[in-house]
Amino acid sequence: MLSAPDDCCYGVDDHTTGSTAQTIKGGMRTPPPLAPLGPPPIPADNPQSPAKIEWGRYLFFDPRLGGDASTGCSTCHEPDQGWSWAEDISRGYPGTVHWRSNQTIINAAYYSKLFWAGSSTSLEAQARAASKGGVAGNGETDIMEARLALIPRYVALSREAFGTEWPLLRDAYRAIAAFERTLVQRDTPLDRYLLGDETALSEEQIRGKQLFEGKAGCIQCHNGPLASDENYYNIGVPGVKRWESDGLAQITFRFELYAKGVPEELYRTLKDDPGAYFRSRNRWDMGKFRTPSLRYTLYTAPYMHSGQFDTLEEVVDFYNAGGVAADGRTTSFPETKSPLIRPLGLTGQEREDLVAFIEAFSGEEILIEKPELPPYAPLFTRAQLQAAQEAK
Ligand code: HEC
Ligand code: HEC
Repeated sequence: MLSAPDDCCYGVDDHTTGSTAQTIKGGMRTPPPLAPLGPPPIPADNPQSPAKIEWGRYLFFDPRLGGDASTGCSTCHEPDQGWSWAEDISRGYPGTVHWRSNQTIINAAYYSKLFWAGSSTSLEAQARAASKGGVAGNGETDIMEARLALIPRYVALSREAFGTEWPLLRDAYRAIAAFERTLVQRDTPLDRYLLGDETALSEEQIRGKQLFEGKAGCIQCHNGPLASDENYYNIGVPGVKRWESDGLAQITFRFELYAKGVPEELYRTLKDDPGAYFRSRNRWDMGKFRTPSLRYTLYTAPYMHSGQFDTLEEVVDFYNAGGVAADGRTTSFPETKSPLIRPLGLTGQEREDLVAFIEAFSGEEILIEKPELPPYAPLFTRAQLQAAQEAK
């Protein structure tokens, strides 16, 4: 039997982070209100600069930053698929599939913990994990670094941005992070409404907002400027259905369990992604995932870590049923399911209002022209090589 530790208190069912912005009053908490989004935080050790952002923009779209030069960031984070990947689970490195649903890059700059289970704490570290991860970029450090040195434009940009003679892979990750910090959306109907423009939301959306903050209780976790408390919960999402029939997907799941070093017994028996458990190794974290932002979700279907819902309507129906999908499937870890998730008793009209309100978290779709990638060139010209030969 899995049980929470003694200091568990109703309404704060996160034991992974311990840090929450919520205040607890008499056992109930008052979540911070929704708020307009400010500019993203910029880390002191990686300030923005035009050369850095430009290099990062190229690198984000450059498959040479991956194993066989086929799979770069944008291969899986397609701008016209919400800067994500529009399938239940993400595509993987050639010959593999991923094991989780993809996440958008838009507004990733605001999270203090990245990935569904929060396993990375900065965009810089995240980019490294993505370009080297077995089912993602699958790149080798020395080979990727050697490729960068053979692209004159990158040599020039990295020199300008970081002052090094040759491009370093570490700096490439910092440049990608700097580019990602420009991919933010702060001018949504909700932001305009919260800044005082009462016409920015429709009647329906205003009713939806009241439900969000009241009867439907969404605000308990989706709160503050990002609409995420960055805590971890098991809200009842069922696992990847494809694992029942798709051998390759099932193998990737086992590979990830093994690579993350779960005990033998769990490796053999787990049927589902244990989420935050990977980091804490606490059984009461099984099946918990980081609350995602609701911003930009108009463009990022399918939803949830396992990509099991194709529409926002399905998501709202799932919450209305108390964390159970339409086909009756739910989490494989019922012991850790959040007490905040319970049947809501929303009427048809209320469900529509709520969906309309979630749409107000998204502004215009962000689409940018893919840059034309600069070519390789030999490190030395024939004349230079000849001169070196003659000097011997
Ligand atoms: C093979 C597909 C693939 C490639 C290549 C890939 N990603 Fe991802 N990315 C994913 C998936 C899937 C997730 C969610 C994984 C998880 O949570 O475990 C993700 C998550 C992320 C996140 C976290 C967002 C959040 O809300 O926490 C960021 C940021 C990100 N990727 C950036 C990058 C960058 C930068 C690169 C290139 C260096 C890259 N990705 C390459 C598939 C990919
Ligand atoms: C107990 C905290 C909690 C409450 C309450 C809650 N959510 Fe969530 N929400 C989460 C977590 C955690 C996830 C990710 C779960 C997963 O992938 O397993 C999530 C995911 C989502 C997603 C999918 C986002 C994406 O990028 O895939 C949407 C949409 C959403 N919630 C809307 C709502 C709405 C609407 C309500 C109110 C009816 C609500 N949430 C109530 C914690 C919560």
